[in-house]
Amino acid sequence: MSNRRKFIKATTLGAIGASTLVGFKSVEKTDASATILNKGNQTKPLIISTWNHGLPANEETWKNLKNGISTIDAIEAGMRIPEADPKIRSVGYGGFPDREGKVTLDACIMDHNSDCGAVSFLQGIKHPISVAKRVMQNTPHVMLSGQGALQFALSEGFKEENLLTEEAKKDWEKWLEESKYKPVINMENHDTISMLVLDKDGNISGGCTTSGAAWKMHGRVGDSPIIGAGLFLDNEVGAAAATGLGEAVIRTAGSAMVVELMRQGKSPYEACKEIVERIYNKHKNHKDMEYLQVGFIAINKNGEHAGYSLRSGFNYAICDEENGNRMEDAKFKMSWE
Ligand code: GLY
Repeated sequence: MSNRRKFIKATTLGAIGASTLVGFKSVEKTDASATILNKGNQTKPLIISTWNHGLPANEETWKNLKNGISTIDAIEAGMRIPEADPKIRSVGYGGFPDREGKVTLDACIMDHNSDCGAVSFLQGIKHPISVAKRVMQNTPHVMLSGQGALQFALSEGFKEENLLTEEAKKDWEKWLEESKYKPVINMENHDTISMLVLDKDGNISGGCTTSGAAWKMHGRVGDSPIIGAGLFLDNEVGAAAATGLGEAVIRTAGSAMVVELMRQGKSPYEACKEIVERIYNKHKNHKDMEYLQVGFIAINKNGEHAGYSLRSGFNYAICDEENGNRMEDAKFKMSWE
């Protein structure tokens, strides 16, 4: 079995387990045409998150929203679940390290007032999403990076700890044998958890958190902490978030562009698809094309939502009152195999 197949199998089983646990209706991955035809979800709140690890994150966010916690705090609570899970190799504790064996984390959070906070190249703190929230709430800035972000986190009472698990260390040592940077699509660049929430008042907020591309250069920062690239929202219009190779998303201001297309009247599906097409056109002769995967999720104020990726294999978790917490396969431009 290829690594990718093993991965898909493991995460699919994980997803089914998670949705059973939640007590929600367990819904198998559905045909993505359902997304295209989605005419809006008038029941609020609505939560969508990237990848299978979106399911337990959605569950936690949902629970918090239902308990009357603020939307930003509920997003933070949801994203702390994959951040703390050592089995998730692309987020937080247990994430793949860079080529020097260091786990370095990126995250951002944004609310309906366009307030936002971010951390990049943060080491030794398990919950970058929580530090990003404190940057938003307790500093005059949007982003803190590296040693400065760590200093700030410590001053806010966060605890420094080793985030490199034995498993991740073994994988890194294996990678060192050849030391080739050529991410495995949907595995080593499948990465980020991004979450978008339309809350009960019809306001939109979102967050992203990731350990970034596996085996990246020390100091590399991806799209996830960059407002406009990994995440963007305008409460008048909608929100979008990205996953995949951050370099390609930064080059094209991906999430901001998806939101702008929705402002011009495109549906979330049309907007995500158009930006993926644009990324493809800009990269089809680029050195990154060989291992390029990018995917977007988006929602608008009417509760329409969609996911679309360049290559197959991208899915996202959707949670609402009517249909519970379930996975949906995103439509895609091309099969990766
Ligand atoms: N999309 C996450 C990264 O490239 O770091």
